[in-house]
Amino acid sequence: MRSLASIAVAIGTILPFCSAKSLSDIIYRDVAVIGGGASGAYAAVRIRDDFHKSIALIEKQDILGGMVDTYIDKKTGKTFDYGVQGFLNVSGATDFFARFNISIGSGSASPSLITEYIDFRTGEKVEFQPPSSAKQIAAISKFLKVIEPWESMLFPGYWNFPEPSDIPEDFLIPFGKFLTKYGLEDGAPIIYSSTGLGVGNMSEVATMFALQSFGWDMARALTGQMGLFTPTLGGNQALYNAVAKDLGDNVLYSSTVVNSHRTEKGVTLTVRNHKTKKDTVVHARRLLVAIEPTHENVKPLDLSSFESKTLSKFTYSNEYAGLVDNKVFNSSYYYFNLPSSAAPDNTLVYQEDPMVASFQYTGLNDLFRVMVIGNTTTTADEAKVLSQDSFNALLKAGRLSGSNENQELSWATFATHGAMHARVTVEQVKEGFFQDLYKLQGARSTWWTGGAFAANFQTQLWKFDEGLIPKILRGL
Ligand SMILES: Cc1cc2nc3c(=O)[nH]c(=O)nc-3n(C[C@H](O)[C@H](O)[C@H](O)COP(=O)(O)OP(=O)(O)OC[C@H]3O[C@@H](n4cnc5c(N)ncnc54)[C@H](O)[C@@H]3O)c2cc1C
Ligand SMILES: *[C@@H]1O[C@H](CO)[C@@H](O)[C@H](O)[C@H]1NC(C)=O
Ligand SMILES: *[C@@H]1O[C@H](CO)[C@@H](O)[C@H](O)[C@H]1NC(C)=O
Ligand SMILES: *[C@@H]1O[C@H](CO)[C@@H](O)[C@H](O)[C@H]1NC(C)=O
Ligand SMILES: *[C@@H]1O[C@H](CO)[C@@H](O)[C@H](O)[C@H]1NC(C)=O
Ligand SMILES: *[C@@H]1O[C@H](CO)[C@@H](O)[C@H](O)[C@H]1NC(C)=O
Repeated sequence: MRSLASIAVAIGTILPFCSAKSLSDIIYRDVAVIGGGASGAYAAVRIRDDFHKSIALIEKQDILGGMVDTYIDKKTGKTFDYGVQGFLNVSGATDFFARFNISIGSGSASPSLITEYIDFRTGEKVEFQPPSSAKQIAAISKFLKVIEPWESMLFPGYWNFPEPSDIPEDFLIPFGKFLTKYGLEDGAPIIYSSTGLGVGNMSEVATMFALQSFGWDMARALTGQMGLFTPTLGGNQALYNAVAKDLGDNVLYSSTVVNSHRTEKGVTLTVRNHKTKKDTVVHARRLLVAIEPTHENVKPLDLSSFESKTLSKFTYSNEYAGLVDNKVFNSSYYYFNLPSSAAPDNTLVYQEDPMVASFQYTGLNDLFRVMVIGNTTTTADEAKVLSQDSFNALLKAGRLSGSNENQELSWATFATHGAMHARVTVEQVKEGFFQDLYKLQGARSTWWTGGAFAANFQTQLWKFDEGLIPKILRGL
């Protein structure tokens, strides 16, 4: 008698000779959504459960939630969020938790740490003295007043982005100059260390992209005018696990689009599950793209030359985050990377990408959070090598306890956040880039959401989706 294993092998050898078509499922949906992160998962729930249209959500990984990364300690069940830290209380945001019965709170207090400024390239201490917290917060209040009149131009998306001749001059000057112009330099350290650090050289980037990476609601949150919350149990991933449960088999996991055909009447996508190798053909009347429109991501989307020409103008940073548990770190510390030129009090100089931004104690076991800001080409392997190099520099210079110079970083977990902070040059903005970008909305039955098309925070993207969904569903 043949064993089950040999039968399985026999079937395995037969399958490749069947035509791909006979093996693929064909499904029909009102809306196909690519990407199950913040923007895609939210839109999928709203469209299906509240607008009663059928959906298929195509997600590359085997869970939903994208840049949300919740580490769970196996022994105690305690969690630490090493990707997304919290949700801004943008109007309506709390409703999305309530509908899944997820209780929320202001988050557990993170440990208070001593920030030690070090040049991670050399391991040398940088005697940088930041402005007091009170001064930083006062500068953020002032910053908010300056930027308040422009909010609707960038938030929640670019629908009202001004024509080239009407763009505020301040949008296009380097952000360092902008801060200096309005006497806001004291706010720079908190802008940089919270969310500004991914945007390239924050002093040189055009102000509008710095505003995209920090902006109105972060300023409100830091000055106590807007709440920032997290689920009380299970970390931030708890939300997306609830979404996954709700959407059930409407999500195609471990899958990407490998081929597509898009017209004004609808779209046909060939979706491949990279684990089972099985294809599903999705016929949908509308497509919502909720991933960063990098070359790699949009290649299978049958782009027109206009779409391709427009989207290829974006450049990105690549971000990585992880947790390490080497005992030589001191749990009183937040080791923060700055160039020596920041001493004694220059708030406007930063380390060049690619770089490790920090090693920060998490409050959980021996775990330190590592943040890596890569340039347009930095890969996950390079990010790990860079982390090791920085670690070596700290060890060699005696910044850590023990003298073992050949210690490997011990990764408890590591996440690729990939391309972020989509931006273009000032020249391209002046040539009407954002007007061109929004011409893609709705063309060939395709709509676009996510970080490159709107303000790049979880709940701000939900707000952007709210405005987009009626447009997507018109005529369905
Ligand atoms: C370290 C870090 C900390 C952050 N902290 C906060 C915070 O505290 N608060 C906050 O509001 N925001 C935070 N952000 C920003 C926030 O995470 C983003 O704004 C948000 O995740 C962007 O949502 P998105 O839908 O555009 O993309 P994502 O959330 O990245 O989702 C994209 C999804 O698409 C999937 N995918 C990618 N490519 C494909 C493909 N080709 N086919 C199919 N699926 C694909 C991905 O696996 C992912 O699930 C943080 C970001 C980082 C990197
Ligand atoms: C939330 O709780 C209510 C009341 O207990 C219940 O009716 C509902 O089904 C729950 N929803 C989810 C998504 O669990
Ligand atoms: C969120 O904002 C709403 C409306 O302003 C408010 O009622 C609610 O208490 C806030 N919740 C949190 C957790 O910040
Ligand atoms: C960690 O740093 C604190 C604060 O500087 C210091 O008091 C403590 O001795 C250090 N611990 C170790 C193990 O070096
Ligand atoms: C970043 O920009 C500032 C201001 O233009 C400049 O002084 C600094 O050298 C730049 N840093 C890097 C690493 O390029
Ligand atoms: C990104 O960084 C690497 C390593 O420093 C460098 O070799 C590469 O040229 C950089 N790429 C870009 C596009 O700047």
